[in-house]
Amino acid sequence: MDPLVLNQLTISNLRNITELVIQPSSGINLILGDNGSGKTSILEAIHLLTLGRSFRTRFLKNAVQFGQQHLQVIAKTSNDAPVGLQFDLTQGLQIRLNSQPLKRLSDLATQLPLQLIPANCHQFFEQGPRYRRQLLDWGLFHVEPSFNYQWQSYRKVVQQRNSALRQHKNDLEIRLWDTHLAAFGEEITRLRQQQLNQILDKFRLIFPRLCPEFKEVDFTLQFKSGWTKEHLLIDVLSDHLERDKKLGYTRSGSHAADWSFSINGVDPSEVLSRGQQKLFALALSMAQAEITLNSAQHTQSILLIDDISSELDQQHQHIMLTELAKLPVQCFISSTDYSLAANLKSDESATVFHVKHGQIVEAKHHQLSTK
Ligand SMILES: Nc1ncnc2c1ncn2[C@@H]1O[C@H](COP(=O)(O)OP(=O)(O)OP(=O)(O)O)[C@@H](O)[C@H]1O
Ligand SMILES: [Mg+2]
Repeated sequence: MDPLVLNQLTISNLRNITELVIQPSSGINLILGDNGSGKTSILEAIHLLTLGRSFRTRFLKNAVQFGQQHLQVIAKTSNDAPVGLQFDLTQGLQIRLNSQPLKRLSDLATQLPLQLIPANCHQFFEQGPRYRRQLLDWGLFHVEPSFNYQWQSYRKVVQQRNSALRQHKNDLEIRLWDTHLAAFGEEITRLRQQQLNQILDKFRLIFPRLCPEFKEVDFTLQFKSGWTKEHLLIDVLSDHLERDKKLGYTRSGSHAADWSFSINGVDPSEVLSRGQQKLFALALSMAQAEITLNSAQHTQSILLIDDISSELDQQHQHIMLTELAKLPVQCFISSTDYSLAANLKSDESATVFHVKHGQIVEAKHHQLSTK
């Protein structure tokens, strides 16, 4: 199956956007406009369509344009299957793929794997383990077909075990879950470790291109499976049964996994400047995008980069755009810096959109898509 890209996007009644239609290119789409013009709202629409939720609010009613009853996002994709989402203040969320209602949002996420790089992505190092786990599992979800099954099964078993612990069931009834939990957990660990190694391999190549001053440094990755190193999960569960009974939940396991990078043995947040931290987060997403693309599924991801200019100087923005243009992914990049358009060379497949008061006032194709 050819990778999917968005060919047309129609947004209605989302924040200050009353009605907007764009024909994105398959490469870079640079969305330029002043503060409050509607740039992030366009990215929000794509995120909403793909994942069924916004990255700006937990309450979708806040994204519906003031005074309106519902918002809509409709996309045409490269395989001609129209994808549509509507959020109505009274009827809630409805999603359609190829005119058929979709029951599960994960169906859409599978079709259009999306990575959001928020304006504050330099705060990557301030995020907790849950965020890092999600980042890692995002890749696995799109690369490794068995991962979703393993992870969902694992979660169900943990819930069952926790509920047995809370209900003070006897040891036998609690231990009943351990074999399955351990089997899923060990497999998840194997997949996560494998994925992290791939990320590191790609990252080692990408990051120095964005930050040439880091050419000579040594990047390493530490992975914590969620239980004591060099022990089998089945033994850890058994050894810590009394502790878990006191806690009322299973402490050790894949749900407690974490990972971290180091640069020459030091935590990156200690040595990277803010701009370099942003480039670090961008390089990670680019690494993930390359891995998903090279996987057996050959899944092309969509990158949403909100406010690329924050924290980055002109030169690094230019490097970023050049590197993104080389990556065969569809990117939507917002910025208030109009001079950025000049960075896109004519040989790159790019479209520059100028946004004003929730409308596109200009759409300039640098070259028709050849990707
Ligand atoms: N529910 C809503 N109805 C109407 N307008 C809204 C609603 N929610 C937000 N807005 C307005 O929509 C506009 C677009 O916001 P958006 O965040 O997309 O701007 P932006 O171009 O990303 O700006 P910035 O450069 O400051 O990040 C803002 O003026 C905002 O106040
Ligand atoms: Mg914005």
